[in-house]
Amino acid sequence: MRLAVVGIGHVGLVHAACMASIGHDVLGVDEDAAKVEVILAGSTPFVEPGVTELVRAELASGRLQISTQVADAVRGRDIVFVCVGTPTRPTGEPDLSQVERVAQTLAEAIDDYVVITEKSTVPVGTGEAIRRVIEARAPAGAEFDIASNPEFLQEGTAVRDTLEPTRIVIGSTSERARALLRDAYGPIIEQTGCPVIETDIETAELVKHSSNAFLATKISFINQVAEICEQTGADVETIAYAMGLDPRIGSRFLSAGIGYGGECLPKDVQAYRYTAESYGVAFPLLHAVDQVNSERRARFLERVQEAVGDLAGARLAVWGLAFKAGTDDLRRSPAMDVAERLLQAGAHVRAFDPAAMTDAATLLPDLVMAIDPYDAAEGADAVVICTEWPEFAEVDLERLRRVVSRPVIVDGRNLFEPADVAAAGFSYLSMGRPTVSGWDDATA
Ligand code: UDX
Repeated sequence: MRLAVVGIGHVGLVHAACMASIGHDVLGVDEDAAKVEVILAGSTPFVEPGVTELVRAELASGRLQISTQVADAVRGRDIVFVCVGTPTRPTGEPDLSQVERVAQTLAEAIDDYVVITEKSTVPVGTGEAIRRVIEARAPAGAEFDIASNPEFLQEGTAVRDTLEPTRIVIGSTSERARALLRDAYGPIIEQTGCPVIETDIETAELVKHSSNAFLATKISFINQVAEICEQTGADVETIAYAMGLDPRIGSRFLSAGIGYGGECLPKDVQAYRYTAESYGVAFPLLHAVDQVNSERRARFLERVQEAVGDLAGARLAVWGLAFKAGTDDLRRSPAMDVAERLLQAGAHVRAFDPAAMTDAATLLPDLVMAIDPYDAAEGADAVVICTEWPEFAEVDLERLRRVVSRPVIVDGRNLFEPADVAAAGFSYLSMGRPTVSGWDDATA
């Protein structure tokens, strides 16, 4: 089939390359000429395992082509997937200007039947809005359908999530559009047997926002439980494990920490709440989810303060800057927020992140960047863990003990077994678990 993807950011580029890899002829389009240049030069503008290789291979095969001309995306194509950004305004209102602009350009270029498919996370009602734009702008007699086909990929596992999806949701009232989308995903459906949910556009749009909002709710729930644990001496990890064994609850997304970040969860919680309210439905639960998430960072900073006394002048090693492990993405990163607040409080921060340091240095020039976790910890009063990179959990605690000034770890991601850290001679403050100490501060 001949497909196009407009907006080749994290979602769009992965989608375009994966669709090419299952045999389609795919045109990826982005107005950002610099981004297109990077991709054509054989690189990718973000860190995502397997994507650079896949994009290079599909460009070389000729199945994937890249352009800056949005109008080209519609000519002679069966389906156009719209994957442009949908940021939120400060009020939480979703900013759909990019979607609308793309819809206008596509509309004017329609030359034959095409399915315009929204793949970005958009509020319910966007599909209808796109239809109105296209009806107003398309040449007389232009044939098209609108569909919603939300994306569920996670950064870090994007290729696998796309080629082995947990489900494919196809929202359209047109049987012709649904059949084309089923065909587009045919090889994946055949190979994986994943469920295909066919529904109307509004339901498909709401599946996406509901899924992300529910994931955020799980995280805020366990973070609130962590807070209770911190007051009662209970252990949130054991609680999450025991809860997760109930298949009705499930074990994933119950890791307590400094809260969720990234491009999707924070934005989608706010946008979903705003959208619900615009339809006259209050969604106080999502307000609470958002609030618990913000408060987690303040609580974490209190823990750091508990560990080092005055933050002003404290020498701190910050491990992790990306919003989660496996990515260089700093967007709404709780780790960056923590690092910034520590700097504002007058701490001297040496940071290390396996992937995100170049961009972090631009955003926070006062951060001193280290070459590895030990280098960051040289002479530190405390090691402050902000991102759940597995390599941090694998550090040699004996070696770490030798380089720090005070053996104190404040862990915002619960990466260690408290007993192991105490046995290595550290004081260990984590989230929702009792503080342990293998070191007597008074003798230091
Ligand atoms: C998310 C959704 O998971 C994905 O389905 C959707 O398509 C896009 O948004 P992503 O933004 O890649 O994916 O991040 P995710 O893996 O969901 O993590 C989001 C944040 O939650 C990270 O900051 C992570 O550290 C945090 N998190 C996750 C927790 O604090 N605890 C957990 O148990 C899980």
